[in-house]
Amino acid sequence: MNVFQTIPYHYLRQNAFNMRWAEVPEGVIPLTAADSDIPFSSDISSAIIEASQQQLFPYAAPQGSLEFRTAMSTHFQKVKNCSIHPDEVLATNSAAGAIQDWCNQFLSKGDEVLIPDPVDFLLGYCAEKAGATVVRVPAQKQWDSALWSSYITSKTKAVLLCHPHNPLGFYYTESDLRDINEFILNNQLLVLSDEVWSDVIFSGKFTSMRQYVPSAWVVYGLSKGFGLAGLRIGALVAPNAATLQELMENQGYIKTVQGASSLSQIAASAAMNSKSARAEFLKTVHRSMQLAIVRLNKEQSFFKVNNPDSTFVLWLSHPEQLESQWLTERIEKEAKVKLVPGLEQWFGPGAKGHIRISCATTPEVMNEAISRIINWTKQNS
Ligand SMILES: Cc1ncc(COP(=O)(O)O)c(C=O)c1O
Repeated sequence: MNVFQTIPYHYLRQNAFNMRWAEVPEGVIPLTAADSDIPFSSDISSAIIEASQQQLFPYAAPQGSLEFRTAMSTHFQKVKNCSIHPDEVLATNSAAGAIQDWCNQFLSKGDEVLIPDPVDFLLGYCAEKAGATVVRVPAQKQWDSALWSSYITSKTKAVLLCHPHNPLGFYYTESDLRDINEFILNNQLLVLSDEVWSDVIFSGKFTSMRQYVPSAWVVYGLSKGFGLAGLRIGALVAPNAATLQELMENQGYIKTVQGASSLSQIAASAAMNSKSARAEFLKTVHRSMQLAIVRLNKEQSFFKVNNPDSTFVLWLSHPEQLESQWLTERIEKEAKVKLVPGLEQWFGPGAKGHIRISCATTPEVMNEAISRIINWTKQNS
């Protein structure tokens, strides 16, 4: 069987960028950027088709449509155990855009921000673009106020967290969130919680930081749990409607410099309102991820594999003496699978000795990729 027939291969070869199918040589499987090969639910495609019947896309409301913001509120209540009011929601051009808007609004030169290490590059990148200095704190599954306190100086302005955490796959418990709230209050810090992964939960109960940290700003997006990365649709949830209006004014939302596409908001609302879209997507991704974990644990010992509670990425450690970039280049050339090396530029210095595998593809493609990786480890151990 040609496993590429289980995905829309030709479409992806032309359209999937950011280190994926359109950017790798023919035959290479890119388990790289956290983007999906799995077609999204027909609930979403029907809404997109219906929206275009009118043949009109007028300027949308600067804060985002009421439909989108209400869908956010309901979705947060149902899936993230959290009450938010639609007036506290801003539709943004992607989760990444929401992070940058927040950093531009609150950070400036001379400020220090604390972020976990390792963590996805965007938090540090956006903070630095806004002029702040990034201070990295070793990432740990359980929140440790004493550890984070030890990195605070008179310049510390904010804490930027990834909840759930990419690439480590944990999320904070309600008890951690209470501790984070106390820590934030005691030290008078701002807090941004990047919750773009919060739809991809495989065990336990996820609670948005906003529920226990009333001052938290939350970043959300539909690129992960609904596989809509190319629609660039996300949201920023503010602690209250008044501060959100200030941010909208300063960051250009009121004057149409910034704003989310109305078509993407329609698709996102359909996704969040759908009874089955998220579950369908997670079912396939979970199968691919479990298959990878089971086979890697059983059939090789070169890589050590984690078992994440959340996210569809696996964080593998490799023999210390090898260099991640060199290793991923060899695996791409010789095994025809492209992986993300644990480089400082992607995750911070704490990523040393690791590689990341994204599992958002069909079980058939995943199985083929894992076979190739396992064969490579056998030939090179
Ligand atoms: C932790 C984290 N935050 C933000 C983003 C950006 O998401 P989007 O592409 O929806 O802007 C990603 C994407 O991988 C991510 O992993």
